[in-house]
Amino acid sequence: MSQIRRLFVCTHQKSGVGDDVAKALKKELKSQGLKKRVANGQKQHAQVQTCNCLDLCRNCKKGPGAALIVYPEGTVYGNVRPADAAELVAEHVGRGHVVKRLRIDE
Ligand code: FES
Repeated sequence: MSQIRRLFVCTHQKSGVGDDVAKALKKELKSQGLKKRVANGQKQHAQVQTCNCLDLCRNCKKGPGAALIVYPEGTVYGNVRPADAAELVAEHVGRGHVVKRLRIDE
């Protein structure tokens, strides 16, 4: 049995920061070896998916970064910038820890 974690990144901003965040997350997943791995005897995959507005605009197009949601946990992050990708991938995807400074409540 395998587990898939999906990171949905909003790309609906005019600035294009969401595309840059998605690219940075993909790059980090690959470089940190977390795109596909086996942990606790279970295959784990992580994918980045771009999407349209997540209805989190206050923490997305009105701020410096993009909004994203990580499933299956349903963790919501806001104002994520490309520079945050390494920490987000290492902590959330790698260790299963929420990055509190980027987390937002809906
Ligand atoms: S524009 Fe990104 S959540 Fe609405």
